[in-house]
Amino acid sequence: MRATAIAQPNIALIKYWGKRDIAQNLPAVGSISITLSELYTEMTVQPDASLKRDELVVNGEKSSEMLPRISACLDQLIGLERTFARIESRSNFPIAAGLASSASAFAALTVAAARATNMSPTTASLARHAGRASGSAARSLYGGYAELANGSDGIEVTTLCSANAWPMSVVVAITQVAAKAVGSTRAMEISRQTSPFYDSWIEQQAGDLDVARRAIEEHDFAALATIAEHNCLKMHSVMWASRPPMMYWNSATLACMQTVRRLQSEGCDVFFTIDAGPQVKAVCLPGEAARVRVALEHTPGVIEVMHTGLGAGARLLDAS
Ligand code: DP6
Repeated sequence: MRATAIAQPNIALIKYWGKRDIAQNLPAVGSISITLSELYTEMTVQPDASLKRDELVVNGEKSSEMLPRISACLDQLIGLERTFARIESRSNFPIAAGLASSASAFAALTVAAARATNMSPTTASLARHAGRASGSAARSLYGGYAELANGSDGIEVTTLCSANAWPMSVVVAITQVAAKAVGSTRAMEISRQTSPFYDSWIEQQAGDLDVARRAIEEHDFAALATIAEHNCLKMHSVMWASRPPMMYWNSATLACMQTVRRLQSEGCDVFFTIDAGPQVKAVCLPGEAARVRVALEHTPGVIEVMHTGLGAGARLLDAS
């Protein structure tokens, strides 16, 4: 059977940075994210007994870079005796550039692969498999505001609030389209081994999660904005103080942060967050989105601006 699934990337407001178990890819901290609606990755999986190995096509071109991680994820989910598969991936946004492309890719992959092999695992089980491939991917199985709890038995993802219950807009300022120099997996490990701030980052995360969870429950934008920016800047401080330092920002990243600061000083309900890449995500109340978009479009160095709301978790599109 051939199955196609779609998943949206998610943006962490309280970030996952660091692992407590590398082999099982278990995070060192919990995290809270929002799943987007307009950016997407579609994954088609078609097992084929004539294949000698998996084949991957990304946006119409054969690709070997992601293939080992994709194959390992399929081995985990389906089992080592599985039939090899043809996998096709299509995204409408730059990949490997700090826009959570691995999150949407692995979330969609698990849904499509399970259907293509006639399995019917629970969403929780798919999230654990996706998370093993890429920690942030577990959250893209869920829509709206999702919390990944890092329990002793593994991860558990829950929806804190649906996309409709507290609508939010995200304006993404693309400042560079090239793939990042150091991937998150390696960067996290360098942080753990060398950053003098790593331990305090881990210690403070539970408190940040509590504040953000309460802000989401109470729909308190100002409280969410303050804790999300603080958590983001702490994560980047951990990276900056690592050896070698990891600096994902460029001058346009900083210019976008200043634009957000200016908007805030004018009373606009907006805050920024930045992941392992130079793109800036400005999260705002939907009524502010047009103003935020114009301001970021006019910010020096911004190549493109994308606008999205909040969306649903990964789901099946087609199976035949
Ligand atoms: C900065 O999920 O890409 O986006 O588990 O090694 O694949 P791996 O890492 P990944 O890391 C995401 C890091 C982040 C923060 C976040 O999304 O929580």
